[in-house]
Amino acid sequence: MVESIIGIVVICVLIFLLTALFGAPYVPTQRKQIESAFSKLRPFKKNDVLVDLGSGDGVVLDEAIRAGASKVIGYEINPILVLISWLRLRSNRGRFTIFWRSFWRISALPDVSIVYTFGESRDIKKMYDLVQKWSNRSGREIDFISYGFEVPGFNYSKKENAHFLYNIAPLHSQKT
Ligand SMILES: C[S@@+](CC[C@H](N)C(=O)[O-])C[C@H]1O[C@@H](n2cnc3c(N)ncnc32)[C@H](O)[C@@H]1O
Repeated sequence: MVESIIGIVVICVLIFLLTALFGAPYVPTQRKQIESAFSKLRPFKKNDVLVDLGSGDGVVLDEAIRAGASKVIGYEINPILVLISWLRLRSNRGRFTIFWRSFWRISALPDVSIVYTFGESRDIKKMYDLVQKWSNRSGREIDFISYGFEVPGFNYSKKENAHFLYNIAPLHSQKT
């Protein structure tokens, strides 16, 4: 019995360590910070769909639904966090989807209007470029909210505490 518990704990720790090698480690955004981002920085409009890139335990998705998002989508590589998010959000059937998948593998996101991330300084410009690509493909403007990190070389349109908002418009010359 004790061996099984130790085994489960070791597997969980290994999952967290291994997934941290692929991108930002798991550190959740504080609820208060998220609330102020969704009330002051970028309030939700009718039919807004939010994606959280690296959705962790689902706290951002949960707050987004409370703040008025019509639908939320999470991409998360840590299966334990996918399960925790699903348990957290399960009462909101039909309004959330969580994929156990790397967001780097997503080629297009047609209906999305807001992309949120609490990433890493190393990856933030690459994430911005990915969102620009989705905007070009969908022909829609996407509001990109980065927590903790400014995107080098780009001016944010608004800032609230450590949240930075970038309005990414489609570049019609770059559809692919
Ligand atoms: C700093 S946490 C942020 C969690 C959540 N967005 C929040 O703000 O509370 C970053 C999360 O991204 C996940 N992650 C890192 N790289 C990823 C990738 N390529 N695809 C999906 N998830 C990733 C990590 O497992 C971690 O849970």
